[in-house]
Amino acid sequence: MAKKNRSTNRKLMIANTASIYSEQFRSIRANINFSLKDKKCKTLLVTSSSVGEGKSTISANMAIAFAQEGKKVLLVDADLRKPTVHYTFNQFISPGLTNILLGDWHVEDVVKESGVDRLQLITCGPIPSNPVELLSSTSMDKFLAEMKDKFEIVLFDAPPLLSIADAQILSAKCDGTIIVVSSGKTEKKNLKKVKEALQHSKAHVVGAVLNHYKLEKNHYFYDYYIETNDR
Ligand SMILES: Nc1ncnc2c1ncn2[C@@H]1O[C@H](COP(=O)(O)OP(=O)(O)O)[C@@H](O)[C@H]1O
Ligand SMILES: [Mg+2]
Repeated sequence: MAKKNRSTNRKLMIANTASIYSEQFRSIRANINFSLKDKKCKTLLVTSSSVGEGKSTISANMAIAFAQEGKKVLLVDADLRKPTVHYTFNQFISPGLTNILLGDWHVEDVVKESGVDRLQLITCGPIPSNPVELLSSTSMDKFLAEMKDKFEIVLFDAPPLLSIADAQILSAKCDGTIIVVSSGKTEKKNLKKVKEALQHSKAHVVGAVLNHYKLEKNHYFYDYYIETNDR
């Protein structure tokens, strides 16, 4: 079996809970808790306009932040085209989500430990040729309903929203969608298109996280900021 030990430089907040870095994720967590306070289980999708803007980094750190708050959390790799959750947590890619959706495996045999208390993972599974079909299937709805019973937070690390339909489909199934914006990289016109696509699918945009933001004064190169968008 391949792809377990590829090194990752993804920045995780586990190591230092006192850093400004961790503090930003606690603030994001608080905003989401407030925004979806009535939901017993919160299902959240993290997406952005294109690749490399930090979706996987942000979703992994958000998952850890919720677990550190005492919540039972599931991080699902829903980027069935360029999955990375298995790299981040040093796991095998399979079995994973695609095995569940195809009916080959039961959820309990697929869920993996993350190494962080209360945080469990579902990796991608074998990369499928028909991601749109799988994500819009009734098996996906069943999977989501089952997870809502088992976890308090279900986070989907999604593919980029523009040019492929996957994230738009999933956003309509989740309670909240978080848009990652990469400072200096995400183009305004693309961000506008993302917002329009999410409005079109009637997704609830909880807010946007600004990634790679450089705070001039303190010279922190990587910072996060969430702008909530309450209904
Ligand atoms: N805030 C950050 N600080 C440091 N590295 C980051 C940060 N955000 C993203 N990266 C790095 O940028 C690359 C792309 O990020 P990733 O989260 O995989 O993006 P996406 O999932 O949107 O494609 C990865 O190598 C990741 O480690
Ligand atoms: Mg990714």
